[in-house]
Amino acid sequence: MATLAEPTLQFTREAHDTPQSAEARTAILANPGFGTAYSDHMVSIDWTEGRGWHDATVGPRRPLLLDPACAVLHYAQEIFEGLKAYRQQDGGIALFRPYANAKRFNDSARRLAMPELPEEVFVESVRQLVAADQNWFPEVEGGSLYLRPFMFASEAFLGVRPARQYKYLVIASPAGNYFKSGAPAVSIWVSRDYTRAAPGGTGAAKCGGNYAASLVPQAEAIARGHDQVAFLDAAEHKWVEELGGMNLYFVFDDGSLVTPALTGTILPGITRDSLLNLARDEGLTVREDRYSLDQWRADSASGRLVECFACGTAAVVTPVGKVADYEGEFTVGSGGPGQLTQKLKNRLVAIQRGEAPDPHGWVLKLD
Ligand code: PLP
Ligand code: COI
Repeated sequence: MATLAEPTLQFTREAHDTPQSAEARTAILANPGFGTAYSDHMVSIDWTEGRGWHDATVGPRRPLLLDPACAVLHYAQEIFEGLKAYRQQDGGIALFRPYANAKRFNDSARRLAMPELPEEVFVESVRQLVAADQNWFPEVEGGSLYLRPFMFASEAFLGVRPARQYKYLVIASPAGNYFKSGAPAVSIWVSRDYTRAAPGGTGAAKCGGNYAASLVPQAEAIARGHDQVAFLDAAEHKWVEELGGMNLYFVFDDGSLVTPALTGTILPGITRDSLLNLARDEGLTVREDRYSLDQWRADSASGRLVECFACGTAAVVTPVGKVADYEGEFTVGSGGPGQLTQKLKNRLVAIQRGEAPDPHGWVLKLD
């Protein structure tokens, strides 16, 4: 089990006079979907050059007032994280690997020329929000409270340089299934016209701009009847990288797995890393390597590739059943959920929910 470090910043708590009604909340929690409803509170911390982080508060969730010259609105200096709080089998609440999110947040901050937030303050900010919004956990199967820490340049300035003022916020959203269809496996469109990230770019950072650039290819995938877009590398347009918001794993008939290596253009997913560990715990061979679209197609046809799945905080572990590009469509394995995919998902979810031992010390219990 992970333990909580002492934060270096004190949080002020502001009472909420008008939280959402119990009826409205109950209706949301019965069918949360993903990213459409929000809890009552938010965390806010400011950073000013020369002063550092200050004014940490947990208070009512409310709109922000921004100057039209606010730097983020012009040059997209923004980063975010995504993690979940889980109701435990024993009734408590826990976070899964929040220090890994804190570290990745700071990796993103450095790439976007933004100030780093001490890891213990990041984790404390999330803990404070979960404590304030304890009644926002959906009781539905697979439900959790999705937490969205983010930071943006809040200085009003139109010159192109790192801002001298930032806002860090955390909001929470009750979450159920990421994919609306609830289908047993998702279908992927491989984009040949667009890439997500180029060498030397921001692909390994979790910055809003990466997602803005993925919207057209993602919309193309939807328009063609698929659930998600997969991106190839920008240099050769050959190697499979990741989906718009998930990493990929390939499972072979000899029981081994491959996941695209972290070359700097892929987001280093925490779910990806967790599954790497869990698969190795099972004695499986997992390689972080290059895997081409041509190979994906050929291995699916020959039966060498038996399963493929996407993974991420929002999507957890989601089987990939069908893949398509301009050259046509192919099916992976049975086209439905595979055995190993299901086994790894069950192991991960059991740890996250306190239903299984936590051999890697990933679970941070909150009281
Ligand atoms: N890749 C991208 C582009 C993502 O947005 C995400 C989601 O955060 C992931 C991968 C998976 O990362 P994680 O498992 O840390 O949620
Ligand atoms: C997540 O899984 O947390 C993500 O950020 C993916 C997507 C919602 C952007």
